[in-house]
Amino acid sequence: MLDLLITNATLPDGRTGMSIAVQGGRIAEVTEGLDAPAHEKLDAQGLLLAPHFVDPHFHMDATLSYGLPRVNESGTLLEGIALWGELKPLLTADALIERALAYCDWAVAKGLLAIRSHVDTSDASLLAVDALLEVKRQVAPYINLQLVAFPQDGVLRSPGGVDNLKRALDKGVDVVGGIPHFERTMADGAASVKLLCELTAERGKLVDMHCDESDDPLSRHIETLAFEAQRLGLQGRVTGSHCTSMHSMDNYYVSKLLPLIAQSGVAVIANPLINITLQGRHDSYLKRRGMTRVPELMAAGVNVAFGHDCVMDPWYGMGSGDMLEVAHMGLHMAQMTSQAGIRQCFEAVTTNAARVMHLEGYGIEAGCDASFVLLQARDPVEAIRLRATRLKVFRKGTLLAETPAATTTLHLPGRSSQTGWMIPKG
Ligand code: FE2
Repeated sequence: MLDLLITNATLPDGRTGMSIAVQGGRIAEVTEGLDAPAHEKLDAQGLLLAPHFVDPHFHMDATLSYGLPRVNESGTLLEGIALWGELKPLLTADALIERALAYCDWAVAKGLLAIRSHVDTSDASLLAVDALLEVKRQVAPYINLQLVAFPQDGVLRSPGGVDNLKRALDKGVDVVGGIPHFERTMADGAASVKLLCELTAERGKLVDMHCDESDDPLSRHIETLAFEAQRLGLQGRVTGSHCTSMHSMDNYYVSKLLPLIAQSGVAVIANPLINITLQGRHDSYLKRRGMTRVPELMAAGVNVAFGHDCVMDPWYGMGSGDMLEVAHMGLHMAQMTSQAGIRQCFEAVTTNAARVMHLEGYGIEAGCDASFVLLQARDPVEAIRLRATRLKVFRKGTLLAETPAATTTLHLPGRSSQTGWMIPKG
């Protein structure tokens, strides 16, 4: 007897009429038209069953702090960092934990069950590190929370930066972080990349750096990151986040850079909602979009994922933990409007992001964890277009969240009332 049998599901790869058999928290079988005894049966009615969403780039220590102690007036990255500096002395562990747990509730409701969050290690007290380690422990039954030791004020620029970061790793933080473009000089930025990659190799960790988050076409720390990944044999364990300067780089230089990134096995994370908000702020007109070169990187064979980055914090006052909103903005900014391009944007918030985080048991295949989302959409394109309702969210075969289907009843003059999704049927 199966624990759960889902029938008549459409999968992200386009297979329809699929049955997913679940036993002991794992997918036992994925096959067309299977019927078998099960404690629970769910008819998906032809809707999309996708593996859960994955956010590979977030800042959970700052989330839901919008307006504390004031809002970001200029809307720039630099005022956001200054504002975060004003907020830090006011932070308490209890308040930080409360906000993070509230965000995790939102995330589950949106089918987001794995999050890589950077945590600021600049403060010697490591208050935020301890608080997020506690959050990680508390949410472990429903969210896979991976933490990155992030020296927001610069690992070389701030006193004790290296020591604080190492102590965060000692406490159990999973991934090495960095911010080379915020160090005092280009040389210091490159030195920080080398130092942090060597630390990653020494400790057998992953590394994910905020890299070139600027509109400066000469900010080229991604080159150093890719070179160090190769030199130290870290292929597959290194990620460059943001990489927005690539948007503004000279095309000839990029033609040399793309193969280096691909050969070094460095993954790239774009953060569309934040990149369109923060980049181009020093421009008058024309204003640059600022997001990294997503389709070009993908075409070169680089694993590219999309992150949410911020929700209601010193940098961004919007957001709700909805990775379909992230994908929606990403495809607009990257002009990935072909059917194939839209599907790639769906992968950027699911399978690609899972590869960045080295998630095990991810996917809708026999042997994978039964952690998936039933969406009120018939395929990934429709899911992004509608930011589709997450009808049911399962983790390891257990139902974690349910949302009623979005329906509207119209009462139009001269016509009988009608109820439905109010979307054109394809
Ligand atoms: Fe970030």
